Amino acid sequence: MKILGIETSCDETALAVVEDGQKILSNIVSSSLPLHTKTGGIIPEIAAREQTKAIIPSLQAALEEARIKLDQVDAVAVTYGPGLIGSLLVGVETAKTLSYLTSKPLVPVNHLVGHIYANWLETTEEPQFPNISLVVSGGHTEIYFMEGHGSFLRLGGTRDDAAGEAFDKVARLLGLTYPGGPAIQKVANLKLKETYHLPRPMLNSPDFDFSFSGLKTAVANLAAENKIERKEIPALAASFQEAVVDTLVTKALKAAKERSVQTILLSGGVAANQRLREAFKDRFTGKILVASPSLSVDNGAMVAAAAHFNFDPKPWSSVTSDPGLLP
Ligand code: KG4
Ligand code: ZN
Repeated sequence: MKILGIETSCDETALAVVEDGQKILSNIVSSSLPLHTKTGGIIPEIAAREQTKAIIPSLQAALEEARIKLDQVDAVAVTYGPGLIGSLLVGVETAKTLSYLTSKPLVPVNHLVGHIYANWLETTEEPQFPNISLVVSGGHTEIYFMEGHGSFLRLGGTRDDAAGEAFDKVARLLGLTYPGGPAIQKVANLKLKETYHLPRPMLNSPDFDFSFSGLKTAVANLAAENKIERKEIPALAASFQEAVVDTLVTKALKAAKERSVQTILLSGGVAANQRLREAFKDRFTGKILVASPSLSVDNGAMVAAAAHFNFDPKPWSSVTSDPGLLP
């Protein structure tokens, strides 16, 4: 089955064709990110306008790269939420129109579920259950226990900032570019040790929740008190990165132990972080699944993959952009 996946929840206009949930036939991502670097964050109005410009050329490109015609796709899948409402609307209305024109099924996909299914793209391995799924992106930091396709038991999540949001805010504090995750990773340069011991809020709490806003404040206070000089920014960035990584890994490992699970799935934009990947590999004796960095950030292929394994078409009238809490 060939599914067209459409992802427009934020600044990416991403369309892809995926065969049988794992084989990527095309994967087109265009982004309005350069327009947001000046402001250090996404301006929803601008992101939505850019979506309307990019959606049809990206659709054309995705079909061309996959070497198929629109009526050869078996279904149209689209992210319905969570995300920016104006951006989501562009993808959702495009998907409904395509489904109507071709009489092909329309499959709405939750953005976080999409991220999770990116882990099984480009592999021939069957999805493994049970697993612990850590979704870490700009808007979410969530831990799920998955017992099968579509079965998500939420164990915990952030009580304030998402991990990616903390990366973005700290990068801004340190005068680095947006998005903050790649910028911090770059200056931290992997070789740098943890120079400043920053707090790991909720590290030892009995639950699986996170809190990153205090860590961000600790970086701000440290920078203000010590009047951090330019040459000290890499050490501070590396220390911050280490604190986030330690917290994420510790909580995910605790969840795996409590549920006697041998597989951890790592997904969302922050999963692109090399230090996080290394730390998981060093500290977990079981299996870590993580997509390539380009499939960890937002893309259409993950949406098509999630739709394949959770094939649940809906009538056009019931599909709207939505805050999209997990089922
Ligand atoms: O999943 P994503 O592309 O979009 C959302 O659904 O939010 O994630 C974007 C987030 C941003 O906060 C960005 O700073 C972070 O992922 N990110 C990273 C890295 N690459 C992207 N964080 C840490 N290290 C990275 N290499
Ligand atoms: Zn995302």
